Amino acid sequence: RTKPFQVAIDGPAASGKSTTAKLVAQRLGFDYIDTGAFYRCITFATLSKGIDPSDSNNNHQISDIAERSVIQLQTVFAEPPPAFNNGQPSSSLSTRSFLLPTTRVFLNSKDVSSDIRTGIVSKHVSAVAAIGNVREAVLQKVRNLGATDAHVKGPNDSKNDNNNSNSGLAAKLSTPKGLVMDGRDIGTVVLPHADLKVFLVADSRVRAERRLQELIMNAADSTELQGQLDVEAVQKDLERRDELDRTRKVSPLRKAEDAMELDTSNLTIEEQVDAIVQEALHRQRQC
Ligand code: CDP
Ligand code: CDP
Repeated sequence: RTKPFQVAIDGPAASGKSTTAKLVAQRLGFDYIDTGAFYRCITFATLSKGIDPSDSNNNHQISDIAERSVIQLQTVFAEPPPAFNNGQPSSSLSTRSFLLPTTRVFLNSKDVSSDIRTGIVSKHVSAVAAIGNVREAVLQKVRNLGATDAHVKGPNDSKNDNNNSNSGLAAKLSTPKGLVMDGRDIGTVVLPHADLKVFLVADSRVRAERRLQELIMNAADSTELQGQLDVEAVQKDLERRDELDRTRKVSPLRKAEDAMELDTSNLTIEEQVDAIVQEALHRQRQC
């Protein structure tokens, strides 16, 4: 098999795409590409230049920014500690975060991993992602990454992180077997021939509670959270963004006909990851 095995994961905001995609990639020894990070980087670059994304007169300028931006992702996969290799992984939060791969995002060589997750970027990202030429620019960038694996940096990049052994990553790089990509239009537009397509959904209140928890855990200090601490407000923001993503003209958010739908409202992360890994292994055996 010359083509890497492709897993496409789509779904509305905070349905669990990136958490699930990273863990699926880790379990299968695949690469991971977060396409939302591309739209977030372009939005961050636009706002940094003082350009208003909600004014459609600026679309041309924003498309230029999209074309010129050099965006790189660096995912560091975690190795399970020896005690968990043969036993059942614990579902406690601490163990989970210990095992969760981390993705750093670079915009024109600058680490913007936290800058792109702020409330102001989330507020404007769907307007930026609705611009046809921006989507075209991102499509070209992510398709290139998928084809070459070039976004994964060498093992020395995580020297200071004792939780992450790199032997697994090195092995993955020498034998790139596959790729997990998440976003809104992966199964429909970016990887229409993906070997496995998954559409994650969850109740919007559940998604808001999870996103709020995530914001609290990741915030460097409480000032970053101002205006985002209310679950109602987070839920409204997610729903507004989903509506924009579903109704835009170019590559709207929708489930591909051949996608498997998973409702994560009542699933644990381990359960949803397991379901996808089992299905991927089953389909790989058939190839
Ligand atoms: O993690 P969260 O669901 O909040 O968002 P994300 O995956 O980082 O994506 C941010 C935004 O980028 C989405 O709301 C979409 O507007 C856009 N996006 C898109 O249009 N197409 C993709 N393939 C990925 C993201
Ligand atoms: O990428 P996307 O915006 O779809 O979602 P995410 O950022 O991966 O997930 C949002 C939050 O939901 C994360 O903090 C996950 O740990 C949490 N979560 C989940 O994804 N699935 C569950 N079954 C339970 C919690």
